[in-house]
Amino acid sequence: MTNSIRYFVGNWKMFGVPSSYRIIEKIHHYLNKDKKNNKKYKIVIAPPFTLLQEFSKKFKNKKISISAQNCHHKDNFGAQTGHVSPLMIKSLGVKYIILGHSENRMSGENDEVIKLKVELALKNNFKVIFCIGENKTEKRKNKTIYVLKKQLHNVLKKKLNSKNLIIAYEPVWSIGTGKLPTRAELINTTRQIKSNLDKIFKNNIPPVLYGGSVDSNNISFFKDIKAIDGFLIGGASKSSKNFIDIIKNFYK
Ligand code: PGA
Repeated sequence: MTNSIRYFVGNWKMFGVPSSYRIIEKIHHYLNKDKKNNKKYKIVIAPPFTLLQEFSKKFKNKKISISAQNCHHKDNFGAQTGHVSPLMIKSLGVKYIILGHSENRMSGENDEVIKLKVELALKNNFKVIFCIGENKTEKRKNKTIYVLKKQLHNVLKKKLNSKNLIIAYEPVWSIGTGKLPTRAELINTTRQIKSNLDKIFKNNIPPVLYGGSVDSNNISFFKDIKAIDGFLIGGASKSSKNFIDIIKNFYK
């Protein structure tokens, strides 16, 4: 099943100061003006923890939603220096959360920890953007499908509320490198991801986004790959112009 709404999710990573809300404001302005297409897509922006409270207040009841980029794997409060729990993020009015990003997997997050995070975030009624993706070596050894399957099945279980889940397929070798999978690779991989999701959830299978070097120049490449339900955009989401151009070019 392909969702009709497309997601454009901006992942700011370690970027942004309080005045950066202007970037989101400009994107929001465009969204309101884009009467022709704005019912077809949903914009989510993930600034760092430091900006979540202010931005979620500023964009409360607006069409753009604010997302966190991670959370701790235990809830409530605790002796965890520098960490933030799902409950604490939820209390700010934040609706979405990105989990399992490869940059965090690289600094030690494993499937077991990601599973706890996904479960807790869903329990707190977040919409969870769960990232999966193979690295360069795994791709070279033709392990892509195997790796994705393992990442999906290790974390996702039937009992979870799949209506609040979004999967982001982000090949690690594509993030920030300008390299994209081929059309055939992308179609095949997305199909395999959806078939695994179908095995886990039966009906309600979550949307599947693509992430990795998406920008306004290459977005047209994805246009006719209908199985992709949207995009997780890093570098190009830090400029309102680039982000708006991605949407413009996608619907051109
Ligand atoms: P990129 O990052 O668009 O800069 O490649 C994507 C991501 O890491 O989510």
